[in-house]
Amino acid sequence: MRIVEVGPRDGLQNEPIPISTDEKVQFIQRLADAGIAEIEATSFVSPKWVPQLGDAADLWPALPVGPIYSALVPNRRGFETALNLGVTKIALFTAASDAFTQRNINRTVAESLLEFGEILSQRPAGMRVRGYVSTAFDCPFSGPVAPAQVRPVVESLLELGCDEISIGDTLGTANPSRTRALAQELSDVPNLFWHFHDTYGRAVANVMAAMDSGVGIGFDASAGGLGGCPYAPGATGNLATEDLVCLLESEGISIDTGMGTRIDSGIDQVRLAQASVPILERLGRPISAKSQAAILSHVR
Ligand code: HMG
Ligand code: MG
Repeated sequence: MRIVEVGPRDGLQNEPIPISTDEKVQFIQRLADAGIAEIEATSFVSPKWVPQLGDAADLWPALPVGPIYSALVPNRRGFETALNLGVTKIALFTAASDAFTQRNINRTVAESLLEFGEILSQRPAGMRVRGYVSTAFDCPFSGPVAPAQVRPVVESLLELGCDEISIGDTLGTANPSRTRALAQELSDVPNLFWHFHDTYGRAVANVMAAMDSGVGIGFDASAGGLGGCPYAPGATGNLATEDLVCLLESEGISIDTGMGTRIDSGIDQVRLAQASVPILERLGRPISAKSQAAILSHVR
């Protein structure tokens, strides 16, 4: 299984207390030192919409050498920023629900796909592209989303040339049976990641359901369980990376570094548990991820 660490992006984007670029670089360095190989570092979005990530263009050149980095791109303007900075992996994001994309990126799903098509026609050789499908289970504005509504959006993203797909449980309302149903609908989709939020504490159960279904090559997770989308009321933290790594290791599942090597225990769980602590302290947040708290209680 691969792990895409989204803490510096999804984890911070909704936080009102400004975290400096330097603090973000140190956070990312600690994640890299813990052995995290793939990190979604920031977003090239409007600083008016997401003030916390308004320093993206300053952060990018300061990223520590080592991990594979990606950044969210919502539109042509964000893509131009990515090109100027030499970004080699971008993440385009749309959803299974118009009501959500309208509030999140000021476009319908169809409009977003049209713009992504224009963007990808100018994609330089070697640039990898992830496509997110948010609200794959429920939309905060229009309600439940059926698996059959997710499939056409995934197909469109693949047709446009996305190399990987991330299925977003934006609200954290998925459960194991709905995960199995969506996995069945998407069973032939290559390079699929699951992006569970943990609002109701079901993210780890959903991970097991996805793995039992045999669908997907990895999971998105956020150190310390930080996270939430500013345009999805009710969405709280992501699946904590600590809980994910602890689960995978206890099940004896190897972690794919995304760079062609497989390792049984490439992640230092103590360093990972420590990585988000300074950020949590800055934000005035308690440690809430179960595995993080348990690991830290042994080392403190
Ligand atoms: P818009 O209002 O339609 O854009 O916003 P616009 O073209 O009318 O421009 C408005 C202003 O934004 C202008 O500035 C533009 O220059 C500027 P002004 O003239 O007012 O000074 N602007 C930009 N600035 C920097 N970078 C850009 C950019 N584009 C325009 N790329 C826009 C459209 C997409 C920009 C806006 O809606 C936006 O930034 N949305 C971002 C929302 C967001 O980041 N949401 C969270 C990420 S999604 C998520 O969390 C879900 C996920 O985790 C999966 C899951 O959990 O399901 C991925
Ligand atoms: Mg998210």
